[in-house]
Amino acid sequence: MFSFYTFAFVICTTFVSHSDADSIVYSITLQQYSKVEIGWTQDQVTQLIGSQGNVISQSGYGGPNTTTLQYTGSQSSSSATFYFQGSILSSKSQNGLDTTVCQITQQQYNQLEMGWTRDEVTNLVGNPGIVTSESGTGNTTNIAVQYQVAGSSYGRVSLGFLGGKLNIKYGYGFASIVNNKISFQQFSIVQVGWTQQHVIQFLGCPGTIISQSGTQDLSSQFTTIQYSGSQSSFPSIAFNFQGGKLYRKDQYEIDPRVYTMTQQQFLSIQIGWTRNQITNFVGSQGRVISEYVSGSANYTTLRYTAPGNIYGSADLNFVNETLSSKTGNGYFLNSNTINLQQYTSIQIGWTQQQVVQLLGGSGNLISQSGTVGSPNELTTIQYTGSQSSSSSATFYFQGSKLYRKSQNGLDTTVCPITQQQYNQLVIGWTRDEVTNLVGNPGIVTSESGTGNTTNINVQYQPDGKSSGSVSLGFEGGKLRSRSEYGFK
Ligand SMILES: *[C@@H]1O[C@H](CO)[C@@H](O)[C@H](O)[C@H]1NC(C)=O
Ligand SMILES: *[C@@H]1O[C@H](CO)[C@@H](O)[C@H](O)[C@H]1NC(C)=O
Ligand SMILES: *[C@@H]1O[C@H](CO)[C@@H](O)[C@H](O)[C@H]1NC(C)=O
Ligand SMILES: *[C@@H]1O[C@H](CO)[C@@H](O)[C@H](O)[C@H]1NC(C)=O
Ligand SMILES: *[C@@H]1O[C@H](CO)[C@@H](O)[C@H](O)[C@H]1NC(C)=O
Repeated sequence: MFSFYTFAFVICTTFVSHSDADSIVYSITLQQYSKVEIGWTQDQVTQLIGSQGNVISQSGYGGPNTTTLQYTGSQSSSSATFYFQGSILSSKSQNGLDTTVCQITQQQYNQLEMGWTRDEVTNLVGNPGIVTSESGTGNTTNIAVQYQVAGSSYGRVSLGFLGGKLNIKYGYGFASIVNNKISFQQFSIVQVGWTQQHVIQFLGCPGTIISQSGTQDLSSQFTTIQYSGSQSSFPSIAFNFQGGKLYRKDQYEIDPRVYTMTQQQFLSIQIGWTRNQITNFVGSQGRVISEYVSGSANYTTLRYTAPGNIYGSADLNFVNETLSSKTGNGYFLNSNTINLQQYTSIQIGWTQQQVVQLLGGSGNLISQSGTVGSPNELTTIQYTGSQSSSSSATFYFQGSKLYRKSQNGLDTTVCPITQQQYNQLVIGWTRDEVTNLVGNPGIVTSESGTGNTTNINVQYQPDGKSSGSVSLGFEGGKLRSRSEYGFK
């Protein structure tokens, strides 16, 4: 008997002290959350709640620091977040603190009109919904209200009110999605510039309004209507209207044809080529995944896939029918590799040629835009890490000069930081001060600029945790931002 109690006691104390050392939990109730008002000081907030909260992120770029604090609700997945500018609360949000079930039907959602007051909405729906975030005061008050879609386990509706008036509605998970089907041919006939009424009449079904924003005045309204392809129950078609006129259309899976491109063709295509030139060169016209008009220019995105390989696609972006950028992934990548030592020796300011020479290969062209050879040409190339295929290094060039580099997983040193150390960091500290406190320098994951405009990002691993990360941003040698997830 005696030994049993001793045993139980040891287990208990071990458990308690272990969880104490692991992380500090800052708790909040819905009632406390509701009492906190926009405009309060950070001191007022921490006094009311009774603890200081987790500093999820903090930054100070010349102006006043901004700080984001988070507290945990009674269920560990629920939380409240407070955002301060200087020491003044400018917005708050909650996730899961209020567990009231507030439903809305699709019919009610469809009836809501921009410009309605919160009372008008509440009267129609029959309940006030849950306020998930709030910012601003007086006529600039912005609140977000959430409802569950009746009859759907995952459907949600979000409403935004500015100065008391509905100015955005957004929803997903409606049953009507599967009933509004259109064919690829119908999609192709619809032209940018048509009125909303004309489009709906032509398609023969109203679609699902997934979002609408603006004021009561139609000319300021934006509306997005979704449809499914005739073979699909997945919403893969979207029409976007501004002031009642179609300005953009997108589709993902409804073009039944297959358009392929080889890796060699992808590499050969040059920024500045016309759509006709590319169609002739590649042998097919590509799948139009989006088309829109903005101002006097028109924009088109075409997608090609790799021959016989579903893990590769290339997107080509055109402005006025001229190629402005290209992006490849999967199959369109090649196998050049890089190690940490090579990565470290590459310096900001190097030419693209210097980088390619050092690494012995041209890497993967991730994206390219701007006129070739001009100072506004932007090129991003990526190399796979030599030790693991999930590691990589990315180089960003402007006018063929390296201005930023980043790496992911090339440096596998474990660099821990404790929650206590993280809490002690102060915006404005030098890198050396941070390194001295933490006991190790962390891993530099990205770097850009030179001299006093050097920007680096340093990453640490929350001590004793298998996931999570702490990210520190330094500018000109000084700590300018910090953020964490995973201590909780
Ligand atoms: C908000 O209120 C201020 C002062 O009360 C006023 O000057 C401003 O025009 C109002 N803005 C709007 C959008 O109503
Ligand atoms: C696109 O073409 C229109 C007229 O055809 C022209 O006014 C506009 O400047 C062009 N835009 C670009 C970005 O080339
Ligand atoms: C886009 O612009 C180009 C050149 O300005 C023009 O030839 C083409 O017809 C336009 N396409 C659409 C769909 O408006
Ligand atoms: C805010 O930033 C300044 C430097 O810009 C720093 O001295 C001050 O300690 C920072 N405040 C906090 C709470 O980190
Ligand atoms: C950075 O250095 C340049 C030139 O050395 C100088 O003109 C500028 O004032 C410096 N900026 C800061 C923020 O120290």
